[in-house]
Amino acid sequence: MLSLGTLVFCISSVSLSHLVHATPVHEPHSHFNRHAFHKRNYVTPDQRSSSYDYVIVGGGLAGLVLAARLSDDSSKTVLVLEAGPNGDAVPTKINVPSSTYYDSLLGVAPYDWVYTTVPQPNAGNRNMAQPRGKVLGGSSAVNGMYLVRPAQVEVDAWSSLIAPNDKTAAETWNWSNFFTALKNIETFTPPLPDVQSVAGMKYDAASHGTTGKVHATYPAYMVPISSTWLPSLEGAGIATSPDSYSGNNIGGMFALSAENPSNWTRSYSKSAYIDTLPPRPNLHIITDATVERIVFADNLVAGDRVASAVEFSTGPGTPVLSVNVNKEALLCGGAYGSPHVLLLSGVGPKDVLDGAKVTVQNELPGVGQHLSDHLSAGVAFTSNVDTQGTIKSSGSVFSQSAEFNSFINSGIAYVNGSRLFDGDASFSTFLSSISSAVDSSAASLVPSQYDPVVQGYKAVYQTIASSSYPTTGLIEILFSINSAGAVSIQVGLQQPFSRGRVYITSPSVYDAPAIDPQYFTHPADVTVMRQAVRLVRLIAQQSPLKDALGEELKPGTAVSSDEDIENWLRGAVGTEYHPSGGCSMLPKDKGGVVDANLKVYGLSNVRVVDSSVFPVTFSAHLMTPTYALAEKAVDIILNGNTTPSGGSSNSSTSTTGNDKTGSTSSGASDSGTSSKTGAAMGRVSASWLALFVPFLAALLM
Ligand SMILES: Cc1cc2nc3c(=O)[nH]c(=O)nc-3n(C[C@H](O)[C@H](O)[C@H](O)COP(=O)(O)OP(=O)(O)OC[C@H]3O[C@@H](n4cnc5c(N)ncnc54)[C@H](O)[C@@H]3O)c2cc1C
Ligand SMILES: *[C@@H]1O[C@H](CO)[C@@H](O)[C@H](O)[C@H]1NC(C)=O
Ligand SMILES: *[C@@H]1O[C@H](CO)[C@@H](O)[C@H](O)[C@H]1NC(C)=O
Ligand SMILES: *[C@@H]1O[C@H](CO)[C@@H](O)[C@H](O)[C@H]1NC(C)=O
Ligand SMILES: *[C@@H]1O[C@H](CO)[C@@H](O)[C@H](O)[C@H]1NC(C)=O
Repeated sequence: MLSLGTLVFCISSVSLSHLVHATPVHEPHSHFNRHAFHKRNYVTPDQRSSSYDYVIVGGGLAGLVLAARLSDDSSKTVLVLEAGPNGDAVPTKINVPSSTYYDSLLGVAPYDWVYTTVPQPNAGNRNMAQPRGKVLGGSSAVNGMYLVRPAQVEVDAWSSLIAPNDKTAAETWNWSNFFTALKNIETFTPPLPDVQSVAGMKYDAASHGTTGKVHATYPAYMVPISSTWLPSLEGAGIATSPDSYSGNNIGGMFALSAENPSNWTRSYSKSAYIDTLPPRPNLHIITDATVERIVFADNLVAGDRVASAVEFSTGPGTPVLSVNVNKEALLCGGAYGSPHVLLLSGVGPKDVLDGAKVTVQNELPGVGQHLSDHLSAGVAFTSNVDTQGTIKSSGSVFSQSAEFNSFINSGIAYVNGSRLFDGDASFSTFLSSISSAVDSSAASLVPSQYDPVVQGYKAVYQTIASSSYPTTGLIEILFSINSAGAVSIQVGLQQPFSRGRVYITSPSVYDAPAIDPQYFTHPADVTVMRQAVRLVRLIAQQSPLKDALGEELKPGTAVSSDEDIENWLRGAVGTEYHPSGGCSMLPKDKGGVVDANLKVYGLSNVRVVDSSVFPVTFSAHLMTPTYALAEKAVDIILNGNTTPSGGSSNSSTSTTGNDKTGSTSSGASDSGTSSKTGAAMGRVSASWLALFVPFLAALLM
């Protein structure tokens, strides 16, 4: 019989955070792969040029897409500043898919930012883990490799939010255009015959790309218990989706994985976009370089502030270094990194900036708002059938093969409201209770004192309630078999109404941002999760899965009333690792941060290109939409902005030509250590932070 310790360790296909303390990093440098390392792209801080056309902040998933595509034009110079290392010291942990369960980089500095939330009052008052990749490739180097796509109505909801009065902007981000981009990022390889005969997945090759840089395929091996997944879902009224990738993902499926089928290694933004490049003198990548802030010129261009330089350093207390920006600064720091850097640069809500003693450069109340995340929890059962975990722990020759170690828990399902609430009538009642409470939700749940932000939350609540919620997946269900002797069926909340914020309490990048997703503040979210737990129990009772499962270990059958399940959930949920929204693409008068061209309002040459810009959540993991966003961003940057006004619902702003937006000859600080601005802004000491704690408490009220 399994000890609880083992079990906690294993409930983790999604809740990888449980693995975080499992294995320290010790990887011999002899594993260093010289063939994958194109030295001329990588430079030390001292070897940098004084200026670049494009300075990319964050070499993560989106940042490396921009780096590769923008430097395709040899006349453009591009710099990537990445806070983490290049990853060459830990190739197995990154490249071998099963490492994500058994030898993960999560929770391990310097490869993870190891952030936690502020205490979450509606989730057991816990400081909840928020891992984020801190290495070239960003979170795509450390994540679970699922490749799934949002639903059409979700993408169209985003498009409708950004451009109520601007058809061109709306079309940029509508489903048909986004679907094209989603296909173009990938090279799809169909499942091997054995794999398909075990899992029984359905797919339509016409929904997939064949020339993209990211490899999308199914693992080389399917653990036999995987064959129980789709028929058991069907027994519980969840039909198998014929094609989950073309805009309707409702139903059971096996997700594609981001793996290269030629050697069953992780396909992530570094391997897909950077390792494949020839050395190019116009692309420089500096690792272990943490961006502290964007510096603005003194003069305005068409009323907008102009980024003239980017400041970075190689560690707390080290000299502040600087590079000048010829054209654009591109923020690709991810869901927390990009709002963090904007706030540190003086772009954000005045109360937050004042509180952190950061000089306001551009008052923009939406920065850091709309933080949304998927939550997950697992119902666990004993099992005496072989799982991935049993085979792994056998230590057999097979368990060490590349084929076996390519296995990812890919059995999933997206479940809509009518299935979750057992019928259209009860779901309609539930949905109308949410819709009729939009005003009071906006009045009581928005963590901002600024009216445009409140209006934006209201617009998003309304949009989710009227478009995504009625038909899309409210819950993702995942079949997790990576532990020995147990199976966990996990549920992930896909359309949270709880939305919080990320903010700062210090002017130093080396102090973590305050992350407050406000989990479970909206009562709909815990209700949906409770229904999902009930549905999982029903699935577990279906043949053939029921024959593979023993007793319910977690939460245990004693937890059965609505109230008991909800209480259990408050203590058990964790992130599904999909935060987004902190730099939302919304109209400025709705508290938006970027317009439809991804340009930050009030700044002439700064864009945000990463998972922080999605204004709604998707019934999907965030890799594919972030890759597609980054590819579309390249087109916008190179071909000119798509639309004059971007997202402002009052479209009278003037068009700024792409190549000229950033040009600035004045105000740029010199390249070199310790620029004036860096010194003037100063660094924070711990005692300074202590001084601020009472203020922080006030902010939280
Ligand atoms: C544990 C985990 C599991 C996941 N599983 C999946 C999955 O199975 N499928 C899926 O689709 N998605 C998954 N995701 C989500 C997905 O990986 C992310 O949504 C995606 O990588 C976001 O891309 P991004 O470019 O926005 O940010 P990231 O990929 O996180 O990149 C941001 C980069 O910016 C750098 N950075 C931040 N701040 C600074 C600074 N101040 N200076 C310099 N550099 C900075 C970071 O170090 C990082 O490299 C998972 C995420 C995690 C953490
Ligand atoms: C999306 O935009 C394209 C033009 O770029 C247009 O042809 C198409 O009809 C739009 N689709 C929808 C659903 O609006
Ligand atoms: C909801 O899901 C069920 C089961 O997957 C499906 O039969 C039904 O058509 C879906 N309803 C809507 C409105 O999409
Ligand atoms: C996997 O194979 C590809 C060729 O398809 C190669 O470029 C890549 O370097 C290999 N990855 C590893 C980690 O060996
Ligand atoms: C748009 O601007 C015009 C004049 O500049 C103003 O009259 C109008 O009220 C504005 N509309 C909105 C929706 O803000």
